[in-house]
Amino acid sequence: MSEVKINPEGKVALVSGGNRGIGKAIVVELLERGASKVYAGARNPETLVVLKEKYGDRLVPLKLDVTDKDSVAEAVKTASDVDILINNAGVLKFDSILGKDAGENLAFQISVNVQGVISLTNAFVNELKQREVAAIANVSSLAGLANMPVIGTYSVTKAAVHSITQGYRAELAETNVLVSGVYPGAIDTDMTKDMEMGKDTPENVAKAVVDGLIAGLEDIYPDVMSEQLGAGYGTSPKTIEKEFAKYIG
Ligand SMILES: NC(=O)c1ccc[n+]([C@@H]2O[C@H](COP(=O)([O-])OP(=O)(O)OC[C@H]3O[C@@H](n4cnc5c(N)ncnc54)[C@H](OP(=O)(O)O)[C@@H]3O)[C@@H](O)[C@H]2O)c1
Repeated sequence: MSEVKINPEGKVALVSGGNRGIGKAIVVELLERGASKVYAGARNPETLVVLKEKYGDRLVPLKLDVTDKDSVAEAVKTASDVDILINNAGVLKFDSILGKDAGENLAFQISVNVQGVISLTNAFVNELKQREVAAIANVSSLAGLANMPVIGTYSVTKAAVHSITQGYRAELAETNVLVSGVYPGAIDTDMTKDMEMGKDTPENVAKAVVDGLIAGLEDIYPDVMSEQLGAGYGTSPKTIEKEFAKYIG
């Protein structure tokens, strides 16, 4: 647990990929828990019309493609008052690392899941350091803690997000910026619509993320599956590796 804790009440947040799935749920949770303003990043801001109607001025649609340097630069100009940065945008290819398109699929996922996180965070970090208290939360995955072969190339990118999170935490240790990793299990969104397994809700993830920021948690296990396996990861990483190895495509 970090000494830096942040309550979203009265704070300004930015959520990448805030138009659907887990990102949308985090946008809503932050607003419901009293954030003064939330920038909802979306490649197509028109997808935010319904949220905008509901939350008015407190919801600011922000055109944002995390793979586009100009888009990121524009975002930091518009949203220079951010206190909480949630790196949520992500993509998944169902592909093993032995797949014939593994290299291509890996490169695509790295561009969003890995380079996108670094690009957006580095653009905002100087702003965040100026706040009395601030936070960066990176949405990794349980599949980033051990490779899940059926989504092997995706797992590689989410392991990188875990490492990136550790790196930012070390770099920012002497600052007012909480750096949290979020490690969801299977969550019911468009991303997992073809996966038949028990899934938790994006709303439960969002609640756990906000609770985690308030508590100053460095590692957030936000759903039933991740609570169980995350606890196991702490004591025996091999157990998760062996469990995930059963999921072969
Ligand atoms: N669902 C799960 O079981 C699960 C488990 C562990 C971790 N996660 C992680 O949770 C995060 C959210 O996933 P989700 O399940 O909510 O997926 P989702 O429903 O597919 O939503 C993905 C979001 O990312 C956005 N996005 C994709 N590429 C982008 C880019 N280049 N620039 C900006 N935004 C981009 C999408 O925007 P568009 O609408 O424009 O495509 C969308 O808002 C991801 O990082 C994912 O890896 C998900």
